[in-house]
Amino acid sequence: MITIKSEREIELMRKAGMLVSEMHQFIKPYIKEGISTYELDQLCEKFIIDHDAVPTCKGFEGYPATLCTSVNDVVVHGIPHKEDVLKNGDIITIDVVIGYKGYQGDAAWTYAVGEIDEDKKYLMEHTEKALLEGVKMVKPGNRIGDISHAVEEYAEAHHLGVVQELCGHGIGQDMHEDPEVPNFGIPNTGPRLRPGMVICIEPMLTFGDRHVYQLEDGWTVKTQDASPAAHYEHTILITEDGYEILTPRLD
Ligand code: MF3
Ligand code: CO
Repeated sequence: MITIKSEREIELMRKAGMLVSEMHQFIKPYIKEGISTYELDQLCEKFIIDHDAVPTCKGFEGYPATLCTSVNDVVVHGIPHKEDVLKNGDIITIDVVIGYKGYQGDAAWTYAVGEIDEDKKYLMEHTEKALLEGVKMVKPGNRIGDISHAVEEYAEAHHLGVVQELCGHGIGQDMHEDPEVPNFGIPNTGPRLRPGMVICIEPMLTFGDRHVYQLEDGWTVKTQDASPAAHYEHTILITEDGYEILTPRLD
């Protein structure tokens, strides 16, 4: 069931989303050579708790941390570890879900550690642009397939792999609600968008082949060919005449 949020619920989701944006802005200066993904996780957990909010991922289906920290060929759901220390030239996706008064905000973006090569720059730039192409399709009357197709078409035009095993989702009191929002699809198919729906669009694109596998930890998803992956995600409200990004970039 796809829920339509009330004005009161939307106001709480705006606050949850803004906290997600502020946490990304807070952690950005720490993303440097020598810091561990565990330290990033600890800093963000403290930031969230200090803002009277909840690190929703922690304990979700047994997930052990606040953040997903996905480095280089890790696509999503990388678990922070003390021994995972960032190196110059890495890329890292920070993905977080924050609960505020029972409502969730969810956003991921990929960051460069020091100087990265041209391939990784290209991957990051065009993964974020693929997300924005999807966002442009968000308005009442359009359908989920319009978003999915726009993301896929942009990614393919830029010769990037589209990971198909994972997708975006509705969001509200739960971090994952209906509908599913795939990153590939057919225009004019799927659920119709209506004002008051809130969805997460989150392309996961690879520089090489699109195929992925999961590690034995039950979470970490990596590219099969070890090529780097990027992941950008926004929480988006469908409004009367289009959309509002609830997790705006503050940089
Ligand atoms: N933020 C991720 C998403 O976009 C998932 C959360 S990871 C989990 O759906 F560990 F909480 F599962
Ligand atoms: Co999400």
